[in-house]
Amino acid sequence: MASEGRGAGRPRVLVARRVFPEVVARLQAHFEVDARDADDPLAPTALAERLQGCAGVLVAGTERIDAALLGACPGLRAVCSMAVGFNNIDVAACTAHGVLASNAPGVLTETTADFGFALMMATARRISEAEHWLRAGQWQHWSVDGFAGADVHGATLGILGMGRIGQAIARRGAFGFGMRVVYHNRRRLEAADEAALGARWLPLDELLAAADHLVIVVPYTPDTHHLVGEAEIARMKPTATLVNIARGGVVDDAALAQALRERRIAAAGLDVFEGEPAVHPGLLAVPNVVLTPHIASASLPTRRAMADLAADNLIAALTGGTPPTALNPEVLGAGMRC
Ligand code: DGY
Repeated sequence: MASEGRGAGRPRVLVARRVFPEVVARLQAHFEVDARDADDPLAPTALAERLQGCAGVLVAGTERIDAALLGACPGLRAVCSMAVGFNNIDVAACTAHGVLASNAPGVLTETTADFGFALMMATARRISEAEHWLRAGQWQHWSVDGFAGADVHGATLGILGMGRIGQAIARRGAFGFGMRVVYHNRRRLEAADEAALGARWLPLDELLAAADHLVIVVPYTPDTHHLVGEAEIARMKPTATLVNIARGGVVDDAALAQALRERRIAAAGLDVFEGEPAVHPGLLAVPNVVLTPHIASASLPTRRAMADLAADNLIAALTGGTPPTALNPEVLGAGMRC
């Protein structure tokens, strides 16, 4: 609920989903704050209603911010997300409406890379499958090939998407685990950066064929929808693993479920899903997949830093400052809604 009696005339902002109380307190020092205490994202109509009279909103990667919403909320001037992925925000529409948009890059890079690596290792070494079997009371004997998986050290790590998180994963693979690192990215890195990472660019087809372990970290855009589908999975080794920590929709989950069922690749590790929180039933039905509920950035310090960065952006945008990670800084000043 809105705080009462804290300086009438101050801008009003909505915190669209539950965040840390200290972040709400920071915002309350500047604004009238309507802070939701719920984890479910508001549907578009409810969000538009709740935003009436608000100059800013703090969102995550789940609230849809598009031209319809911006048109319905004429007082809205800043949309600040605590996620790095911003496929839920139509940045062009924000710019056209004079609304500052920001995301939260940088602060979650290492935590997310840790998780990508953990998921790759859990997938390659069949950790979830083995734990479920043990908990089900099925462990009677040690067996010479029981839950034998694939090695990670010394294997070929394929990285699809070589932004900050891809590079952090490459460093772990090359320097921590002695892996050969190959990658595909629309924009190739400078030769010096490739050398520093020990990474080699390959065309997508060759990357798919070369990888023992494929980790997907590309942003979700219309161009990356089903970037990895049936045809791409068919190019992978039957012994390979696939990890998706990018966004649901980059991988065709139905095609992946079928490939896993038919053992056309060995295993997968998925933190993101098409239509999450729903998970394709075919994925729930196969043992050779590790499933986690979109938690790659979920360490407490990192989640706090993400929420803090969104608050920094919101405070700066509405108090005449420079938002540190604006997606459309060109709207600041004369271009911004008043
Ligand atoms: C991000 O920051 O994009 C994470 O996936 C959480 O949404």
